Amino acid sequence: MPVEMQVTGPVAVLTLDNPGKLNALSIEMLDAIGGHLDALESDGAVRAVVITGAGEKAFAAGADIGHMAEATVQEARDYAERGHALFARIEEFPKPVIAAINGFALGGGCELSLACDIRLAADTARLGQPEVNLGIFPGWGGTQRLPRLTTPGFAKDLIFTGRLVAAAEAQAAGLVNHVYPQGELLDRAVALGEEIAKKSPLAIAAAKGLINEALEGDYHDALARELVAFGDAFATEDQREGMAAFFEKRDPEFTGR
Ligand code: COA
Repeated sequence: MPVEMQVTGPVAVLTLDNPGKLNALSIEMLDAIGGHLDALESDGAVRAVVITGAGEKAFAAGADIGHMAEATVQEARDYAERGHALFARIEEFPKPVIAAINGFALGGGCELSLACDIRLAADTARLGQPEVNLGIFPGWGGTQRLPRLTTPGFAKDLIFTGRLVAAAEAQAAGLVNHVYPQGELLDRAVALGEEIAKKSPLAIAAAKGLINEALEGDYHDALARELVAFGDAFATEDQREGMAAFFEKRDPEFTGR
C-alpha cells in the first residue's frame, strides 16, 4: 500500500510509505490518500487525521519528478488537477487534518502540508518550494496557500529562490505551528488529534469551514455566515452538554449530535 493507515482511538494516522523515493507523491499515493479519506469521513469514531511520512528523512520530497519529466502540457495539467482535487478535499474535509512533517517537505510535499489544518514539524525537518530548480513553479496550490498562510514576501522568497528552510525558520514565518524533537513528533501529533477529538465534532467542522472562508470570498458575507452558524450550534446536544459540563465541573462528552 502506498499509504498506510492506522487508527488508534479517535485519531487516524496516514503514513506516506515510499521512503526509498523520499515519499514522492505518485498518482497511486494521491489516490490512496483520497481513498482513506473517503473511508474516514463516514467513520464517526474517527475525529482527527494525521498525515506523516515513513522513515526519518522525508515527509514528502515533492510531486513525482519521474512522472513529470516527459509530460506533455495536457498530462501536466491532469497531474496538477489530481493534486488540486485531493488538496481541496483535505482542506474541506469535515475533520481536522494535521501534518506531522518528519523530514523534507518539498514542492508538492510542502503543498500537501499547506492544505492541512495544522502543521507540526520535527526539529530536523526542512521545507521548501524548490520547483524553480526544475524549470517550473508550485502547481498544487502553493502559489495561493503559501502567501495566505505566511506572507506574500516570504512566499516569494521561498518560491523564487527555491531555498529550503529549517523547521525553526518555518515556524517563525508561520509555516509550521510547532516544532518538536524528531522522536516526539508523531506522539505529539496524535496527542493534538486526541485533544481536538474531545471537543464537539460539529463545532470543529463548522469552525474549520468558517476559518477557511476567512481568506476567500467576501468578508462581510463570511461574518454573516458565522453569525448564522453560531446560532445553529445551539440546536445541538453538544452545546447543551458542553455548557452543562462546565457548570457541573466535569469533562464534557461530545457525541456529534
Ligand atoms: N520525485 C521522484 N523521485 C524523487 C523525488 C521526487 N520529488 N525526490 C527524491 N526522489 C528519489 C531520488 O531520485 C532517489 O531515487 P534513487 O535512489 O532511485 O536514485 C531517492 O528518492 C533518494 O533521493 P536522493 O536525491 O538520492 O537523496 P538526497 O539525500 O541526496 O537528496 C533531496 C534529498 C530531497 C535534497 C533530493 O532528493 C531532492 O532535491 N529531491 C527533489 C526535491 C524537489 O525538487 N521537489 C519538488 C518536486 S515538484
